[in-house]
Amino acid sequence: MESKVKELTEEVGGVSIATPDEAEQFRLKYLSKKGILAGLFDEFKTLAPEQRKVVGKQLNELKQLAEQKFEQSKELSTNNSSAKKETIDLSLPSEPVELGSRHPISLVRASIVDIFTKIGFTVSEGPEIEDDWHNFGALNFPEDHPARDMQDTFFVESDSDEKWLLRTHTSSVQVRVMKNQKPPIRTISPGRVYRNETISARAHCQFHQVEGLYVDEGVSFADLKQTLYYFVHEMFGQDIKIRFRPSFFPFTEPSAEMDITCIICGGKGCPVCKQSGWVEILGCGMVHPKVLENCGIDSNKYTGYAFGMGIERITMLRYQIKDLRLFFENDMRFLSQFKSVI
Ligand code: PHE
Repeated sequence: MESKVKELTEEVGGVSIATPDEAEQFRLKYLSKKGILAGLFDEFKTLAPEQRKVVGKQLNELKQLAEQKFEQSKELSTNNSSAKKETIDLSLPSEPVELGSRHPISLVRASIVDIFTKIGFTVSEGPEIEDDWHNFGALNFPEDHPARDMQDTFFVESDSDEKWLLRTHTSSVQVRVMKNQKPPIRTISPGRVYRNETISARAHCQFHQVEGLYVDEGVSFADLKQTLYYFVHEMFGQDIKIRFRPSFFPFTEPSAEMDITCIICGGKGCPVCKQSGWVEILGCGMVHPKVLENCGIDSNKYTGYAFGMGIERITMLRYQIKDLRLFFENDMRFLSQFKSVI
C-alpha cells in the first residue's frame, strides 16, 4: 500500500487543472465519497497497527496535497471569471451625452441684463414676499387703488399688523434701492412676480419682469426714450419702430406705454397685434416726486425715470411663441428647442 500511496502522490502532484470542468473531474476522481482517496482510507483501516503509522502519515499528506490542488483550482476559476467580466470591449460605441438647454425665459432675461449692464446699469434683487409699503405705499398707490384688491393681489396670512403679499411687480426692489443708496442710481431689477389672474394663453398668475430705474440730477424724458430706443434695437434689431402712448401709473408722472412694430407680421397686421401692426412691450415714466420723497431722496435736486417690462412678452415676440402657458409646463419637447447657451 505504501508504494501505491507514493505513486498516487506523484500522480496528483503532476495533475494540472485549467478549467472549472477539469477541477470537477479532479474532485470526483480523488476527493469524492467514491473517489480514490476514500477507497485508500477504507483500505488503511484494514492494516496492521505498525504499518498504519507509516502509511497514515503518507496518506494524510496525499489528502492535503489533493485538497490544496482543488482549492487552488477554485481560485483560478474565480479569477478567470472576474477577469472576463472586467474585459472592456473597445469597439462598442459610447453612451450618448445629452446636452441640456436653458429655459427661454432665462435666455431672454440674460440678454436683457446684458444689454443694460453694457451701458452702466447694475442688477438689484429683492424678496418675493413683500410688505404693503414696499409694493404699494411707497409707490404712491392710494389706499383704495384697485391693484390692492384681493382680486388682483395674493395676500399672505400673517399675525402682524403689517400686510404681507407676493410682490405684484419688481418696483418694490427699486424702493429698496432708493432707500438704501444715494443718487446717482442706475439699476435694473429682474425677478418673478405674482398676480391673481386667470391663467390663459396671454396671462398667468406668475410671470417675470425686468424694471429699470435711473435717478440723478437733470434726468429727463429724453434720456428715458433714448435708453429704450437703444434697448429695443439691441433686442429686436435696428429696423424696429417705436411709439409712446400716454398712460397712467401712480408712481410715475408723466407716464407712457411703449409699443414696437409687430415682429410677427412686420407691422402689416395679424392676430397677435390685433391687426394694429403694433405690440405693447413696456410701461414707463418719470419717477413721481412723492415716490422720491417717500424713499428719502430730495425731489428738488433729483429727477428720475423708470420702466418695467414682462420677460414672457419679450420672449414670445422674440421666439414667436403664441401660448404663455408653455413657459410653465416644463414639457421637454418645448424646452429642448432652446439650445443656445449664454
Ligand atoms: N410696475 C409697472 C407694472 O408692473 C411697470 C412700470 C414700471 C411702469 C416703471 C412704469 C414705470 O406694470
